[in-house]
Amino acid sequence: MNTPDLFAEPPSLPRSPDLERMAQLRQTLHEHGHRYYVLDEPNIPDAEYDRLFQELQALEALHPEMVTADSPTQRVGGRLLAEFASVRHAVPMLSIRTETDTEDTGAQAFDVRIRKELSLGETDPPVAYVAELKFDGLAMSLRYEHGVLVQAATRGDGETGEDVTQNIRTIGQIPLTLLRSANAQVDADAAPSGAAAAVTVGFDVPAVLEVRGEVYMARADFEALNERQRVRIAQGVKGAKTFVNPRNAAAGAVRQLDPAIAAERPLSFFAYGLGEVTLQAQGGPAFATHYELLMALKHWGFPVAAQTAVVQGATGLVDFHQRMGQARDALPYDIDGVVYKVNRLDWQRQLGFVSREPRWAVAHKYPAQEQLTTVLAIDVQVGRTGKLTPVAKLAPVFVGGVTVTNATLHNEDEARRKDVRVGDTVIVRRAGDVIPEIVAVVLPAPPPPVRPEVSKDRPELSKDPRAPVFTMPRTCPVCGSAAVREEGEADYRCTGGLFCSAQRKQAILHFAQRRAVEVEGLGEKLVDQLVDANVIRTLPDLYRLGLGALASLARMADKSAQNIVEALEKSKHTTLARFLFGLGIRHVGEATAKELARHFGQLDNIMDASEEQLLQVNDVGPTVAQSIRTFFDQAHNREVVEQLRACGVTWPEGPPAPVTTQPLSGKTFVITGTLPTLSRDQAKDLIEAAGGKVAGSVSKKTSFVVAGAEAGSKLDKAQELGVPVLDEAALQEMLHDGT
Ligand code: IVH
Repeated sequence: MNTPDLFAEPPSLPRSPDLERMAQLRQTLHEHGHRYYVLDEPNIPDAEYDRLFQELQALEALHPEMVTADSPTQRVGGRLLAEFASVRHAVPMLSIRTETDTEDTGAQAFDVRIRKELSLGETDPPVAYVAELKFDGLAMSLRYEHGVLVQAATRGDGETGEDVTQNIRTIGQIPLTLLRSANAQVDADAAPSGAAAAVTVGFDVPAVLEVRGEVYMARADFEALNERQRVRIAQGVKGAKTFVNPRNAAAGAVRQLDPAIAAERPLSFFAYGLGEVTLQAQGGPAFATHYELLMALKHWGFPVAAQTAVVQGATGLVDFHQRMGQARDALPYDIDGVVYKVNRLDWQRQLGFVSREPRWAVAHKYPAQEQLTTVLAIDVQVGRTGKLTPVAKLAPVFVGGVTVTNATLHNEDEARRKDVRVGDTVIVRRAGDVIPEIVAVVLPAPPPPVRPEVSKDRPELSKDPRAPVFTMPRTCPVCGSAAVREEGEADYRCTGGLFCSAQRKQAILHFAQRRAVEVEGLGEKLVDQLVDANVIRTLPDLYRLGLGALASLARMADKSAQNIVEALEKSKHTTLARFLFGLGIRHVGEATAKELARHFGQLDNIMDASEEQLLQVNDVGPTVAQSIRTFFDQAHNREVVEQLRACGVTWPEGPPAPVTTQPLSGKTFVITGTLPTLSRDQAKDLIEAAGGKVAGSVSKKTSFVVAGAEAGSKLDKAQELGVPVLDEAALQEMLHDGT
């Protein structure tokens, strides 16, 4: 944080540097403490807070006489909100050892440690573990006496937490009274790999039962809450604000002093363990394993995550970690890792604890999906259709498993809504394969009120220290042509067309891509070089490239030049659909290009078709028809087509397709998982050749889902919506007879 300067004492008071620094640190820590504990809106990482705290402690040790009563180091219990009563946990709420490796050595090392501690030899069977999700919310202890919820407490410092019973009672998923289900059957399905088949557990509700688990906010609830908050902000409701992530929103709701407001912030709960429980000798339950205990919790009415599994040995742990890593983004809530626990409770007791952590459990984290970084610049990129996209250039940061240096800001409105400015500290998020985005700007803590006489002397204190608000340039940053935003559109577009080298580069890359005419090896770097050196101005120039011109480019080996020449030669034999798609006509994607090719059979028929004739084609509406017409009405576009043909680009032409119904016409397919023999592209081509369509996501309109090995959320969605699921064999059959 670069804020301390804002908190410096007026320079007129002479003080030693240490004492000034102590005052600064106290002030800064107070600000951040308030943001963290009261507002639930931290804006520095915990590690940074700890660093400042330790710096203050060290200085106070040097100058004990200068320790003030209000120093954050003197606060008893440190971290409690004054308004909630404190609760001493009968059994402390511990934390667990965390591994963050990506190579699974942590899981293996854990298994080795456990086997050693239990004196298991090589011939002993693998240890059974319960593998759970590590939910990203806040830990909660729920106390039931004679089956009735009497108290809910946060973790606090592990020994003492806060009494948040009123707010927790608003969570529908938390039973207010335990369900009584003696002799419940633990179904074998719930215990996939290796748990004893059907276990019969019989337990009455114990006199005292503390359930430990995680309170969290589901992603959809978080989005909806933020949407409502945005409306409130727009309406000018005092104190309304949005939340940075589900975890912060959940923490805010739990510690909200007004239970009515807490109730408007939908929370959920997963149970994962126990605190104090009536002793067995006094009629408490007798569980042999952790899994049995979880099943008992389920039968008493608590949500237990369906992914929870009993797995065998290190390989079981590694496999679980990998599977959940893949499933992570499709889960309806955030997880930050998985947790492994030794299943046998007698072994857990034998293993015991090291300092404040159980030896029998370990958390295996995934790479964090959110990190702090700094905005170095906001660039504007020009796309193939001239669309201008603001892109934040970031100080490199490792997030979601990769180093991120760019985050899209989508368009001007979005950049302004987030109010991202150069020099800002921002939270960047990268989840799965999604393009990294900026979640929020983290503002420096506001300066303290400035006394008038001080602000006269120090005018910089009253100025906004941030860079100016982002505005979209009114001219294209690449070619200088006018950039315009049309009525009702979110985007600005460069009007330079193929005069603009950025658009030219994108047009060439689009034409050369795999699903268009495919020029293997013609990538972004090479196209940049060719366009920048003015070797290529139009698409046909590609086919006029000689070996000499290519080989003379910097960093181009003769062999690579030869390969490109061969790839260009090969690309000349294409199909009408690929060629049409490759031209990059606005609104003509791959599917539309295929429909057009099928309908008209020949390129000349398409170039000369009227809008009415174009409207006859499947899926072509007025916008698309007009766009095609406009494209071919421009002489320079026709010229490009003629020259490409003259260079030898050819495709088989046929008569217009007779209007027959093909076996799969009118049917939409979604492909998921790995099919035994066909690649996804092959399956797609076969389905389309038979008149069917292939879509990317499952909806009520999907006719069939074709699922292979390791099918994920799309298969779940199909089952949820009742969409029929086919395997490859069933698809092949359908391709042949259409039933
Ligand atoms: S077990 C003695 N299981 O992770 C073991 N913790 O340091 C106690 N957490 O803040 C914890 N999911 O709130 C356990 N399936 C899970 C968990 C889990 C999330 C949190 C817990 C605590 C931290 C552990």
